[in-house]
Amino acid sequence: MSRLPIPLPSGAPALVPSVLSADFTRLKASLAPVRRLADWVQVDVMDGRFVPNLSFGPYIAGAVAAASGLPVDAHLMVEEPLKFVDAFAAAGAGLITVHAEARGAARAVERVKKLGLRAGLALRPRTPASRLAPFMGLLDVALVMTVEPGFGGQAFLPEMMPKVFKVRELIARSGRKVWLQVDGGINAETAVTAVAAGADSLVIGSALFKAADPAVFLRTLRKRL
Ligand code: DX5
Repeated sequence: MSRLPIPLPSGAPALVPSVLSADFTRLKASLAPVRRLADWVQVDVMDGRFVPNLSFGPYIAGAVAAASGLPVDAHLMVEEPLKFVDAFAAAGAGLITVHAEARGAARAVERVKKLGLRAGLALRPRTPASRLAPFMGLLDVALVMTVEPGFGGQAFLPEMMPKVFKVRELIARSGRKVWLQVDGGINAETAVTAVAAGADSLVIGSALFKAADPAVFLRTLRKRL
């Protein structure tokens, strides 16, 4: 599987469709409008243990890479991420994000880096920004969940914005190029709020794929940011 690299932060916000809300009966067509307008695409992996939902395996990540022609970000919402890192790397993921609350999260981040991929660490809403501190010398992405992970289409949690600001401070102190990604309930309005708080990578699922014209949605959002 060829692997497209996830770009480094450039100052401009990255727009990242989440395929959780894509139409899997016509995946290629569903992704076609966004492939030239998105920076990369996210596959939300759920194991039915870490979150009460079951979604995609490595095979789907590979299919999304082929169908979109974009770099793939695998967001592992799984209890034991180390078990899955190699399989998603082999499937072509350029970025693998694990949850700080998961078992063996540190070993999973180290494994992702050893494989030469970008590594992300995600925080559930109740997990403080300080959990990221020991990892700031390693991470390429810090993901602040703006919903409780597990399902698309939930309402954005504005109370996460102080945490976004704190993570932005951690990134600034690290002196490293680390994306500050937010994920959950991102739409044309909440995207502006999140970027104002310090986010520079926006994962967008239902607001994008349910838009009348996803390409217009992304073009308009990019202009607005
Ligand atoms: C939750 C998922 C969702 C998804 C984005 O576990 O991670 O946040 O990516 O879904 P929307 O944009 O519909 O909230």
